[in-house]
Amino acid sequence: MAESNKMHLETVIAKDDFASAGEASSKVKKTLTMLGVAPAQIKRISVAMYEAEINAFIHGGGGMAYTDVYPDRVEILIEDHGKGIEDIELAMQEGYSTASEEVRMMGFGAGMGLPNMKNNSDNLTIDSRPGEGTKVRMCFNIGN
Ligand SMILES: Nc1ncnc2c1ncn2[C@@H]1O[C@H](COP(=O)(O)OP(=O)(O)OP(=O)(O)O)[C@@H](O)[C@H]1O
Ligand SMILES: [Mg+2]
Repeated sequence: MAESNKMHLETVIAKDDFASAGEASSKVKKTLTMLGVAPAQIKRISVAMYEAEINAFIHGGGGMAYTDVYPDRVEILIEDHGKGIEDIELAMQEGYSTASEEVRMMGFGAGMGLPNMKNNSDNLTIDSRPGEGTKVRMCFNIGN
């Protein structure tokens, strides 16, 4: 497959709609399965993307997910225009969470999303400005 022959996917991450939370990562999971990507790769990509998507939904007020699938890698950008992250290093620590009691009741807020993204991706970069929003980029090498 030529570099220009990549597959591009875009999904809106809705805000305040728990029913549609996780749609972007589940769409990517289906596409990667259809493309014949190895199950172990699909698993780590969908786990990491789900965490980023849920963060954009819960902490960022919704946003967009962009995915590019190349023969050797998958690149994902999750973008929101929410409150941003004040201290990225602190946010990256296991167990750190600012989730509300209401959100914790829904099963989120263990403070494990960012560490999971770090562990499951080959590259993670977070670009965030308080009051402006957050961009999370992840790259996954899938061989070939
Ligand atoms: N997109 C975002 N916008 C604003 N703040 C964020 C965003 N993503 C993460 N954060 C901040 O970083 C903290 C840690 O995120 P992380 O995903 O690790 O844990 P969590 O979302 O609180 O809980 P969990 O992911 O385990 O359900 C969040 O509680 C929040 O304060
Ligand atoms: Mg999270």
